[in-house]
Amino acid sequence: MVNIEIRELGKSGVMVPAMGVGTMLWTPGNSIAEETIAGTYTACLDAGLNFFDTAEIYGGGSSERVLGKCIKKDGRSVLIATKFAPPSPMNPLTQKRKTVSKDSPRALLEALDGSLVRLGIDRIDLYQMHMPPSKNTIADYMDVMSEAVKAGKVRAVGVCNFNESQIRQAHAALAKHGIPLATAMVGYNLLRRWPETNGTFAACKDLGISVIPYAPLAEGVLTGKYRAKGGHVPFGYKIALYFGHLNITKDRRDSKPLIQRVFSKPLELNGRRLEPLFQVMGEIASAHGKTLAQVAINWLATNEEVGVIPIPGMKSVKQVGDNADALGWSMTKEERERIDEVCAI
Ligand SMILES: NC(=O)c1ccc[n+]([C@@H]2O[C@H](COP(=O)([O-])OP(=O)(O)OC[C@H]3O[C@@H](n4cnc5c(N)ncnc54)[C@H](OP(=O)(O)O)[C@@H]3O)[C@@H](O)[C@H]2O)c1
Repeated sequence: MVNIEIRELGKSGVMVPAMGVGTMLWTPGNSIAEETIAGTYTACLDAGLNFFDTAEIYGGGSSERVLGKCIKKDGRSVLIATKFAPPSPMNPLTQKRKTVSKDSPRALLEALDGSLVRLGIDRIDLYQMHMPPSKNTIADYMDVMSEAVKAGKVRAVGVCNFNESQIRQAHAALAKHGIPLATAMVGYNLLRRWPETNGTFAACKDLGISVIPYAPLAEGVLTGKYRAKGGHVPFGYKIALYFGHLNITKDRRDSKPLIQRVFSKPLELNGRRLEPLFQVMGEIASAHGKTLAQVAINWLATNEEVGVIPIPGMKSVKQVGDNADALGWSMTKEERERIDEVCAI
């Protein structure tokens, strides 16, 4: 078994394994059975992966609920990251809150209590704002976050899908309460490298914030398992990659209007463009006795510029075993440079 390194979430003092487990698809009945989730959960803890990422909106609360059941049944101690979704007409759950005005930032406290009940725990290790607010300011939300920390219900605070300026605003607002912004979660993987250049990495480096990349395997594409199908990515994944391509945190370099970006074919969906990357990843994998998935995760986890804690989604005991072996080794500087060469397409 790999000895998994422990890392601090930003400067929060909260220590977690260098890799977490994404549970967005742990929604029983929806292409995964509850017994499979329970087995996967046990395998994660056996492998030393006890940091789980969920959200109130995953499966309308069912991801948190099933995780809560696993925690109770297994009994071992775990670290939980979950998320609060600010009000949006696109998200019916946020329209159902009872808080005096559902648009009030205080709805965060109601959402937090709901997550604690579903998870069956009395404290969240990392509480994240799932997306930037459309109403109220980031500072209004961070003021309420600070109340949750002071009430002992939250250990560390994070944000997701925030751009550079929003990350800096959240950090400054929390700093007024003496609380560090611990993490910034963004879509980041070998096919989606904007955070390196759009200011996310710069802000995280400046402010001592850890980066948590979501979709570290590009929803499974980087495992290479679709290569056998002639480079054809299945429709569902294609849609996910397609929207990933839109770069919702707005890459500074990408000045194309949204409509133009929607209708331009993402490079990464083109098998011929993916293949050179797979070839280099394959050579690195062979040199270290690893798989493509392990190379994709290792590339993230061994970033020396900022602290990066990937959270691959895992849906089976086998995937847990594969992904855990992504840690405990490091690719060389030359290998990283070779990846950069083929990614610059
Ligand atoms: N904050 C946000 O806005 C946000 C957005 C998206 C995700 N997230 C978080 O990030 C987590 C990870 O992202 P993600 O699940 O979308 O994408 P991902 O981690 O890139 O891909 C996960 C999928 O890849 C496949 N897979 C995983 N390990 C594998 C292996 N070793 N071999 C072969 N296939 C493997 C599995 O799907 P199949 O078995 O079906 O192929 C799995 O569901 C989520 O679970 C969630 O916690 C956060």
